[in-house]
Amino acid sequence: MHSASPRPASFAFHGPLHGLVKVPGDKSISHRSLMLSALAIGQSRISGLLEGEDVLATAAAMRAMGARIERNGDGEWIVHGVGVGGLLQPANALDMGNSGTSTRLLMGLVASHAIQATFIGDASLSQRPMGRVIDPLSLTGAEFNASPGGRLPLMVRGLCPAVPIRYRLPVASAQVKSAVLLAGLNTPGITEVIEPVPTRDHSERMLAGFGADISVETDAQGVRHIRLVGEAELQPQQIEVPGDPSSAAFPIVAALITPGSEVTVTHVGMNPTRTGIFRMLEAMGANLRYSNERTVGGEPVADITARHSALTGIAVPPDVAPSMIDEFPVFFVAASTAQGRTTTSGLDELRVKESDRLALMATGLTAIGAQIEEREDGLVIDGSGGEPLAGGATITSALDHRIAMSFAVAGHNVRHAITVDDVSPIATSFPTFEAMLAELANA
Ligand code: S3P
Repeated sequence: MHSASPRPASFAFHGPLHGLVKVPGDKSISHRSLMLSALAIGQSRISGLLEGEDVLATAAAMRAMGARIERNGDGEWIVHGVGVGGLLQPANALDMGNSGTSTRLLMGLVASHAIQATFIGDASLSQRPMGRVIDPLSLTGAEFNASPGGRLPLMVRGLCPAVPIRYRLPVASAQVKSAVLLAGLNTPGITEVIEPVPTRDHSERMLAGFGADISVETDAQGVRHIRLVGEAELQPQQIEVPGDPSSAAFPIVAALITPGSEVTVTHVGMNPTRTGIFRMLEAMGANLRYSNERTVGGEPVADITARHSALTGIAVPPDVAPSMIDEFPVFFVAASTAQGRTTTSGLDELRVKESDRLALMATGLTAIGAQIEEREDGLVIDGSGGEPLAGGATITSALDHRIAMSFAVAGHNVRHAITVDDVSPIATSFPTFEAMLAELANA
């Protein structure tokens, strides 16, 4: 797990970025592919799995609860599932490291098994609210003993058979939706999640792919009703994980803001619940081209070519937020060198990610010379009109991989190098990030 001592790194303009790169597998899909494979009966095979610390934490937890998970010489992951209902009591606390997705989804799985598990994590994860999953899972009959404020370390005692629930999401969160659905897998009857604001739908797609009886209906108000029939039997699958659009956003924004650049990222997941970042960059005038569009494992995929572009500020509609929720840090970087004003709102959720991303991005961007107003639920950014920012500051990444990567990208359009105080958290989601940037700079 992430225990490395802080590793600072500096980022500066070294000329245009060129080349063709592949980003690692989608983090959300990687977590789900391990969990569902571990609950199928028999052997599943996963290629393109993200081998970042967060996903490895999920793999370790599923092993600790009885699944056999191995990586073969070709980089393929082989999972021997225990069947829904077959999870075993873990002998030790489950160390989730920095991973909120692992924690919240696994809490759902444990909730409907007759086992007990303790979840622990790093300093960042231990600050994050778990009440949002404790609330619905308590309704199923699971018991929780959490640290003050509903935080880690926390203990879950599952109930089997659990009670099926009908739950309306009070916050737009794919993690909460998925935790309830995963608890529903081993629960008799129908578990229903009512989702007023659509969020990433990888759980729904993958549950259907594994043969679960799941239906999604959108009512006249645009509200999604997701119904899962419990005591499911999952069939083992062969899964190909597409590249993570959240990771692709970094080289794409780097190319857009660095004069003379043209970068192609291949095999990027294009699920519409994830691609708000590309739509908003295009609305700012970004030159993005999509090619080789195809479907991989039930998910749309494309290659994306980004060319340096003159960007213009926009008002980001708050309803786009869930489809680019993890991309706001790097989007703020793009807005900082655009022409004119960019406004964002409805982003309260950014304050409870791996860090308070509104506060850290506002502080860091201001320190490198950007014009930022921090509001309670968003940032207002007056861009430099394409001029490089001053740079020259040291940025605190606060155990947040996306803060570290966003300022690494910002470093490509500054007059004086930016130092990020600790880039080691990047290994949670994008272990090849620095090598990729170096490759694009030297091509
Ligand atoms: C994720 C959902 C999002 C996202 C996170 C991954 C998922 O979190 O920020 O990185 O895989 O379900 P929320 O559910 O808290 O919005």
